[in-house]
Amino acid sequence: MADLKKEIEAIKQSCLSELTIAETERDIKDIRHRYLGRKSRLNSILRSIKDIPPDERPLIGSLANKVREELEKATSESINRVIKSSVSTSPDLTLPTRPYRIGRSHIITRTTNEIVSLLERVGFEVALGCEIETPYYNFEALNMPDDHPARDIQDTLYLVDGTLLRTHTSPVQIRYMETHKPPIRMIAPGRVYREENIDASHLPMFYQLEGLMVDKGVRFSDLKGILEYVAKRLFSKDLKTRFRPSFFPFTEPSAEMDVECPHCRGRGCNVCGYTGWIEILGAGLVHPYVFESVGYDRYDVSGFAFGMGIERIAMARHKIDDIRVFYQSGVRFLTGL
Ligand code: DAH
Repeated sequence: MADLKKEIEAIKQSCLSELTIAETERDIKDIRHRYLGRKSRLNSILRSIKDIPPDERPLIGSLANKVREELEKATSESINRVIKSSVSTSPDLTLPTRPYRIGRSHIITRTTNEIVSLLERVGFEVALGCEIETPYYNFEALNMPDDHPARDIQDTLYLVDGTLLRTHTSPVQIRYMETHKPPIRMIAPGRVYREENIDASHLPMFYQLEGLMVDKGVRFSDLKGILEYVAKRLFSKDLKTRFRPSFFPFTEPSAEMDVECPHCRGRGCNVCGYTGWIEILGAGLVHPYVFESVGYDRYDVSGFAFGMGIERIAMARHKIDDIRVFYQSGVRFLTGL
């Protein structure tokens, strides 16, 4: 009897001392299993109480039960202790971070940057104009006097002081030539505005990239060479390009450049309006009147100019058939999903 009593005391001490050094909930559950589980020594003592001589039974029985209760209590307290300490003092540094989205540049910005770096590689320098212009720079200096019919298709918003939201990036040509002498290789990307009814290919605000080269003896073939170099790198090499004669008051001769529609390969689809071609820019040789308005000698220098539609190019490259999506679903464009 004394032995059993001692043994129960020993079980208690040993269990308590294991609990004091246990560090995790798992350790404690393991201790509980070993000391209080079905196959534990304490449990077998409790089950064999009936075999103990009757006069000793109450004492051993109540001692064993008391120890079992104490140990149950001690294990649950230990579990609370480790849970509490892991929450308050040791954050789990191995936990993965919360997911977050990395944004990226808008597709129009990326297209602009790509065209800029292609042209920088062949000596063009970026210039910036202003979005609020005077009628002189936007129209008159570009050979579009007040009564010129070309002004009709470039109507825009006028501000109270008579300035206007520029309808194209071409005024930057004038501003640049006024402050620089030839030779010139300049590009000017930026936002432009027009009075437009919104539809799948028109918005009252869009992006252009202007180009201007002025030097002695610049020819139309130089213009074609530069534009073909850019087009071949923006689109696949085997994609055809074509120049169509056109009219702009500030160039003579004038042309428009189309690329074969990359989606139907010229067969005709809804992206190219069933023509097989996508118009991406206007261009030409700088009109002598424009040189005169900036004080250049029209007999000494010649030049070419072009104005690209950034959205048009992005639409052709990414199979986008509606210009409105660039500015409506901004989140998708910015997250790249
Ligand atoms: N400014 C013209 C437009 O918005 C595009 C353009 C055509 C620009 C011919 C040029 C050019 O520099 O030479 O429609």
